Amino acid sequence: MDNDTARAAVLVGVAGWVPPGTVTNADLEARLDTTDAWIRSRTGIARRHTVAPGTATRELAVEAGRLALKSAGRDSVDAVVLATATPDRLCPATAPEVAAALGLGPVAAHDISAVCAGFLYALAAGVGAIAAGFADHVLVIGAETFSAIVDPQDRNTAVIFGDAAGAVVLRAGGSEEPGAIGPIRLGSDGTHSDLIQIPAGGARQRAARTVPGPGDHHLQMQGRKVYRHAKERMAQAAREVLDRSGWTVGDVDRLATHQANARISEAVADELGVARERVLSNIEQVGNTSAASLPLLLADSASGGALRPGDRVLLAAFGAGLAWGAASLTWPDVTALAVHSYRG
Ligand code: UT7
Repeated sequence: MDNDTARAAVLVGVAGWVPPGTVTNADLEARLDTTDAWIRSRTGIARRHTVAPGTATRELAVEAGRLALKSAGRDSVDAVVLATATPDRLCPATAPEVAAALGLGPVAAHDISAVCAGFLYALAAGVGAIAAGFADHVLVIGAETFSAIVDPQDRNTAVIFGDAAGAVVLRAGGSEEPGAIGPIRLGSDGTHSDLIQIPAGGARQRAARTVPGPGDHHLQMQGRKVYRHAKERMAQAAREVLDRSGWTVGDVDRLATHQANARISEAVADELGVARERVLSNIEQVGNTSAASLPLLLADSASGGALRPGDRVLLAAFGAGLAWGAASLTWPDVTALAVHSYRG
């Protein structure tokens, strides 16, 4: 198949779901050596959300998945791809349980582990499944329960991360249709795998028969070192996608970056030459929600009017691994459903 006849994957549904528990900067000031002013000025975050006790990634993924199916007007798909760094268990994957809970039957279902770049990796898996012809419809979800892996006493991570889920539905279609996913670039650099990690619980620590130290089951991040990589890698991948899309920087109506830090998103925009008013953002309300970040941002922006049909959107994400990616699409006429449970 050449490019003209290859089946494209078209975005036909999008949704986000944010759980009810809130942690404001004032809450963090009360228990950590930090301030509202520091958090806002260094990250752009005012609040983040947490699941209720007993709720975890499966429930978040099901909420977002159900809404995305409703947005697409569908009750079936051929495959479910779940991007998450916080699966409910190390084994098995969480996606089969999500598919079952959504009543989707015996469909293909698997997890993708690429942390904050996970949604773009999962999107690529969905696009690939459609292009290869073994799926006509794919539900792609990003869902995270970072409250389960972040040490609430660690100011390096507790001020940043939140819980949420977002999802899109893809269907087979033509590459010229609005919503068709354009070129995707993915990359990784495992030589920096220690910059963001959970040291304990995996096969490496277990095989070494070491006793985990305090904090080794929690997420550890060397933020300052990660910052530079995040900016450079997202900008580079975005540039490559622009080239492959045949777009100039001036063609970009909206830049949607992984919501890691408002300063990083602005730095990526500056690096690319995209005007700041074209940068989509919801980090103030939800923090960094890892794999959920991009689909939640798209759902929030489309339902709030910041993202409109016909807008040319450039997506970029970066996270632990290190892993990163970028993609482009022209936004379709789709009813985005964004449910922030705290808003009632
Ligand atoms: O999700 C994808 C992967 N993650 C990322 O992309 C995150 C990338 N990194 C970042 O977003 C930023 O590096 C952080 C938000 C994590 C930190 O911001 P920063 O501007 O890079 O701060 P820093 O680590 O350079 O620390 C600056 C100062 C330090 O004090 P001194 O050494 O200057 O006296 C820190 O100890 O701020 C201090 N600090 C804090 N102060 C108050 C660090 N964390 C806090 C805090 N509250 N929570």
